[in-house]
Amino acid sequence: MKVLVVGAAGQLGHAISAHLAGEHEVVAATRADVDLTAHAAVLEFVQRVAPNAIVNCASYNNVDGAEDNQRLAFAVNAFVPRTLAHAAEALDAVFIHYSTDFVFSGTARQPYAETDLPEPQSVYAQSKLVGEWMAADCRRHFVVRVESLFGGRQARSSVDRIIDAVRQGVEAPVFFDRVASPSYIDDVAGAAAHLLGGSASFGLYHCVNSGHATWLELGQEIARVLGRSDASLKPVSVDEVKMRAPRPRFAALSNQKLAAAGFTMPTWQDAIARHLHTGAPS
Ligand SMILES: NC(=O)c1ccc[n+]([C@@H]2O[C@H](COP(=O)([O-])OP(=O)(O)OC[C@H]3O[C@@H](n4cnc5c(N)ncnc54)[C@H](OP(=O)(O)O)[C@@H]3O)[C@@H](O)[C@H]2O)c1
Repeated sequence: MKVLVVGAAGQLGHAISAHLAGEHEVVAATRADVDLTAHAAVLEFVQRVAPNAIVNCASYNNVDGAEDNQRLAFAVNAFVPRTLAHAAEALDAVFIHYSTDFVFSGTARQPYAETDLPEPQSVYAQSKLVGEWMAADCRRHFVVRVESLFGGRQARSSVDRIIDAVRQGVEAPVFFDRVASPSYIDDVAGAAAHLLGGSASFGLYHCVNSGHATWLELGQEIARVLGRSDASLKPVSVDEVKMRAPRPRFAALSNQKLAAAGFTMPTWQDAIARHLHTGAPS
């Protein structure tokens, strides 16, 4: 299969391009190849590449910045998926698009399922939700919600920052009242390969590692695996930290639908251990 990965210079795009290259002919496109907000240029670019599948890893991810840059957030997060969905549809190609747990309000008490009603609380979250709807303009689409990605080559995520702090012996502030189910990039890439395999029904999937934890518990597990009983984890409350855009407090997602479609995501503890033993830069 010929797979066009866009946003290939980003954390997820880089990992997915590398993972799929073992099995497929991958065209990894970055901003230097095409500005994805240039609708006509994108249609022309996709026609020229003529892929059997498009994987969209591009995004405007500045959650706080989106509050002041609504046009850019919607251009990249909502209208780019629309353009790519139309380009994929014209080629009868599969379209994989990534979204976020932020589409939910975070007031639930149990992990969100794909059938739960989104209630985006910020401009970023609204733009990503509209992007999900736009992606469905391609009949053969997968919309894949991920959360707190970690293990990318740039190591910029919250999980990676906690790992760095614990390793360096510096204090790491961690929320004791925010719950997450993070997504290890290697596992997300494995899930993408599975979805391209053709056995799963098209539609919406949650792709997070199994289980959930507070950020304090995540930090404690990182310290335990690294053997750093001296780790300085500073418990903080969401209420103490001023953020421009609200974040969901309870952001656990259920990955049962993906499991039923044949891809079981390992537990977050297993993912952190694999990352720490193989991938994390020290
Ligand atoms: N990171 C997380 O923790 C997280 C959490 C939940 C959901 N997600 C979702 O997961 C997906 C992947 O996220 P990520 O963290 O891998 O993103 P990332 O590292 O920020 O990469 C995004 C990529 O999109 C590219 N891009 C943005 N606008 C573009 C444009 N107009 N034309 C061409 N390329 C453009 C960027 O290129 P430049 O580098 O040139 O700007 C960048 O390489 C996104 O859909 C995101 O919303 C991520």
